[in-house]
Amino acid sequence: MKYRIAPLFCRPWTLNGMSPRLIESHYEHNYGAALNRLNSVTSELEALDVKTTSAQAISRLSREQSTLLNSTLLHELYFASLGGDGRSLPDTIVSALTRDFGSVDRWRHEFIALAEALTGDSGWILLTCVPRDGRLINHSASDHAESIAGGIPILALDMYEHAYHIEYGANTTAYIAAFTRNIHWDAVEARYTDAIKVLPPRSLDQPEFKDVPSITPEEVQEMLSSGKRVQIIDTRPRHYSTRAQDIVEGAVWRDPERLEEWMGSLSKDEPVVTFCVYGFHIGCQSAAALRKAGFDARYMAGGHYAWKAIKGPVKLFE
Ligand SMILES: [Fe+2]
Repeated sequence: MKYRIAPLFCRPWTLNGMSPRLIESHYEHNYGAALNRLNSVTSELEALDVKTTSAQAISRLSREQSTLLNSTLLHELYFASLGGDGRSLPDTIVSALTRDFGSVDRWRHEFIALAEALTGDSGWILLTCVPRDGRLINHSASDHAESIAGGIPILALDMYEHAYHIEYGANTTAYIAAFTRNIHWDAVEARYTDAIKVLPPRSLDQPEFKDVPSITPEEVQEMLSSGKRVQIIDTRPRHYSTRAQDIVEGAVWRDPERLEEWMGSLSKDEPVVTFCVYGFHIGCQSAAALRKAGFDARYMAGGHYAWKAIKGPVKLFE
C-alpha cells in the first residue's frame, strides 16, 4: 500500500499567532517525513520473506509502521483542527461538551491542563469520540500512540517541540493559547457528526432469548444498594454448583432442573433476577420460564462471572 499525502487543510495565512512559516515547516518536515518513512517501512514490511525473517524483526517493523501511520493520521487531524476563530462553538458541540464534561469551560480547562502537563515532554492532546460509550473524552498520547481503541479523534493538539519551537521557543503556554484561538469548531463539529454515526461494537447476540429482558450486574448492584427488594436466584447447573466456591451475596441457589418445584416459594410482588455462570443459557431459560408463570423476572447479563468482574460481593457457597 502506498500512503498519499493529504493537502494542507487549514489556510496558513489566516491563522492568528501561528505563522505560515511554522505551519509550512511542520507540514513539510514533520508530517511529510512521517509519511515518507511510513511508505518506506510499509514497502520494507511488504517485501519481507515472513517465513525466513525473525519474529522480532517483523515486530520491530510493524511497530514502526503503526507509529508512523498514527503520526500521519494525527498530523492530518491537527492541520484540520486549525483555521477557525476558536470561539464560535456550534450548538451540537456545546451540548456534547456540556454532556460529557459538565461545561465547555470545564472541558477547556481539562484539555489545556493535559497540554500543559506535556511541557518539556512531547505527545498529542486529543478530543476523541468513543462510539461504544457514545461520549467524548480528552486524552494525551505520547509516541504518536496510546490511541483509544475504536475511538475517533476529532480535535488534535500537537505538543511535539517541532510544532511550536520556531515561534514560541519553550513557551508552551503561549503556543497552547494560540492553538485554542485557531480551533476550527465547524470542522470539529462536522467530524463529530460523522463520528456519532459509527455504530458501537456489536453486543452479544442471543436471538433465542431476544424476548427475555435482561439486567446488568451494575443495575442489580444499584437495586441492592438502594434497598429495593429483589429476589436473586443463582441457577447455575447442579453439576457446576457442586464445585462452585462462592455465590453472589444476597442470592440463593436453586436447581434450574427443578424450577417447577421451587418457583412457588417466590413472590410475584417483587422482581426476580436469575443468573447462571456466564449468562448464556440457563439463567435466560429460568427467567423465561418464570416470566411465563407470571413473575417479573429478568436474567443478569454476564452471569456470575460478570458480577465478580465488577467486584460484586460474594460469600462462601455452602
Ligand atoms: Fe507534529
